[in-house]
Order: sequence, then structure tokens, then C-alpha cells
Amino acid sequence: TCNVVVLISGNGSNLQALIDSQEPGGPVRIRAVISNRADAYGLQRAQAAGIETRIIDHKAFANREAFDQALIEIIDSQAPQLVVLAGFMRILTQAFVEHYAGRLLNIHPSLLPAYKGLDTHRRVLTAGEAEHGCSVHFVTAELDGGPVAVQAVIPVQAGEDIDNLVRRVHAEEHRIYPLAVRWFAEGRLRLGTRGAMLDGAPLPTNGHV
Ligand code: GAR
Repeated sequence: TCNVVVLISGNGSNLQALIDSQEPGGPVRIRAVISNRADAYGLQRAQAAGIETRIIDHKAFANREAFDQALIEIIDSQAPQLVVLAGFMRILTQAFVEHYAGRLLNIHPSLLPAYKGLDTHRRVLTAGEAEHGCSVHFVTAELDGGPVAVQAVIPVQAGEDIDNLVRRVHAEEHRIYPLAVRWFAEGRLRLGTRGAMLDGAPLPTNGHV
């Protein structure tokens, strides 16, 4: 079994998708959910599923380094093989990222490397893009810059409003994040020296599924 720790800051709909995809005796076991915000709704989702929760308030620390060191200690007390960022809205230090090299995944609401950063849906609509989507990637020190593992692509509809686009991208996130986590847990997905690998073969940056 692959023990997983999930980090959240908010609603936790991706956490819910991961919880719902867990099967008894399956390869993935969510050991704990950690939030930097006490009011994150995802904490209630975890509790409802009987998963241990922890809160670590970044505002209680003098700087990013101190927060990340405390976060590492909480995570490592669970001895996870994989750490999953699911709407965890804190920039992580290089020390943190290197500590979890090859076992830290994030989901980002764009077709990386396009539209790194925040407010992706609005920027995609403003630019008049024909396609949008989401990406699961290994986390490296470059913000939203690590090797892409899995992407889902959707066409932007003519005249589509932002709420509709957000809803459709979320639905894709909830499909591909459990898939990527399962592949990792099964030993099929890993980070090689030149990028993400699936079943021993390099994944193209646009690893559409
Ligand atoms: C998701 O859409 C995720 O892709 C995004 O935050 C949302 C969290 O939703 N992450 C980022 O923007 C990371 N920079 P959720 O809490 O309902 O899973």
C-alpha cells in the first residue's frame, strides 16, 4: 500500500475525488490530510471519511523556512510514500521540494507549461484560447514548472462563461488526479532524470489522457 498525505487549503473537491477513489485493499491509502487553514472545508471531508486531520497555520511562523520545516515534521510523522498537493495555496521552499523530490505531486488548472500561477481560467478566456484543461505534475523548485505527468484537455466553448469553464475543468481534475495517484501507487508513474515516466517510458509534456 502507498501511504499518502494530502495537503489542502480550501474546499477540497480534489481531496474528495481521491477519497472516493480509494478502495479497501487498493494501492492508495490516505493517511492524513493537512491544512494551513483551520476553516478549510476539506478538513470536514477528511473527518467524514475517518481520515486524520492536522492544521498548521502559516501565520504562526516567522518565515517560509520555519513553516516548511514544521510542515515536513508533521508529514514525515506519517511516513508517506507520496505527498499530494490538492489546492494547497502556499509556495513551498526549495528545501521542502527537495526533501520530497520524486514523491510530491500537484494539480494545476491549466495546460502547463501555459498559464502558470493564479487566475488561470479568466486568463484563458481573456486570451481567447481554443483549449483549456488541467495538469498533474511532479513538483520542483520552479513554481508550476515541474514535469507534467497527466493532462486533460477540453475545448473552450463559444461564448462560454467562467463558471461553466471552471466547472468543466474541475470535473477533469477529479478524473485525472486519482488516476495519477493510483499510477504512482502502483509503481507505474515515477520521476526520471529527464521527466515523468509511465511504465518505463518517457511521458511527453502533453501527456493527454
Ligand atoms: C483546484 O482547481 C486546483 O487545480 C487549484 O486549486 C483548486 C482547488 O480546488 N490549484 C491551484 O491553483 C494551485 N496553484 P479544491 O480545493 O476543490 O480541490
